[in-house]
Amino acid sequence: MKLPVERLRLPACLSALLALMPALPSLGQPAPAAPAADASLRAPQKVAQVCAACHGNTGQSVQKAYPSLAGQNEDYLFKQMRQFQASASGVALRQDATMAAVVEGLGETEMRELAHYFSRQAPARGQADQPHLVEAGKAIYWKGNPSSRLPACVSCHRPNGEGIAPDFPRIGGQQPEYVARQLHAWKSGTRGGPGKLMSLLVPLMTDEEIAAVAQYVAQLH
Ligand code: HEC
Ligand code: HEC
Repeated sequence: MKLPVERLRLPACLSALLALMPALPSLGQPAPAAPAADASLRAPQKVAQVCAACHGNTGQSVQKAYPSLAGQNEDYLFKQMRQFQASASGVALRQDATMAAVVEGLGETEMRELAHYFSRQAPARGQADQPHLVEAGKAIYWKGNPSSRLPACVSCHRPNGEGIAPDFPRIGGQQPEYVARQLHAWKSGTRGGPGKLMSLLVPLMTDEEIAAVAQYVAQLH
């Protein structure tokens, strides 16, 4: 006995549509200027077309090798995109072939819109994939290593890994493999310029410390 009910609904729906008609611009009139909402649509479209394959539609990484971008500070995200681009000297502050290709086609406005979009998403909640290293990682995160004069991560990245905007990034919940790779990049000199904070302190870390602290960072939130 469903049919009559549906028959009754149709006219109601049509009359609602008709009620809206007078509000629509009549044909022949010039289209209104593009609304400001356009700018806010551009970033989600670009994300779906390009970034989502690796960073997810809402900035939650889809694979261990790719960082989550969700909830990261906006200025920081913008700065990182710039750093994948070669500087005047021809060397990028962050050397990564994938991201170099991605940012090549992006203008400054587009990068700012993408940074804004990802910064507004809920931060990722990651987890350790080698839980037995979490305790050792916790000690490094909170105390550093006095014997090598490694400072504690917590002083700049905060107790929950949320960072201090705009310079000290959020690292809590990040993919452990990505965190470890970044630390190794500072150690080997493929990320960051001389005299930069992380470039100064990561060379003090052993490979074991890097592996452990990456596991602790991943499950922070
Ligand atoms: C094919 C995979 C891939 C695609 C597509 C991609 N990225 Fe990335 N992205 C990466 C990888 C890998 C890294 C880490 C690079 C490294 O190790 O330094 C990264 C890093 C980043 C970072 C630095 C994050 C941080 O925490 O420092 C930003 C910002 C970023 N990507 C933005 C974007 C944006 C915006 C798009 C879309 C326009 C995009 N990416 C598309 C793979 C990708
Ligand atoms: C004195 C402040 C300071 C301390 C201590 C510090 N960091 Fe950082 N960290 C920074 C800054 C600044 C950056 C951003 C570097 C840049 O702009 O590329 C950063 C970036 C990072 C990133 C890259 C985030 C991303 O996605 O791009 C990771 C991972 C990281 N730190 C981990 C650690 C760990 C682990 C420790 C402890 C062993 C630590 N940091 C200690 C200041 C600090």
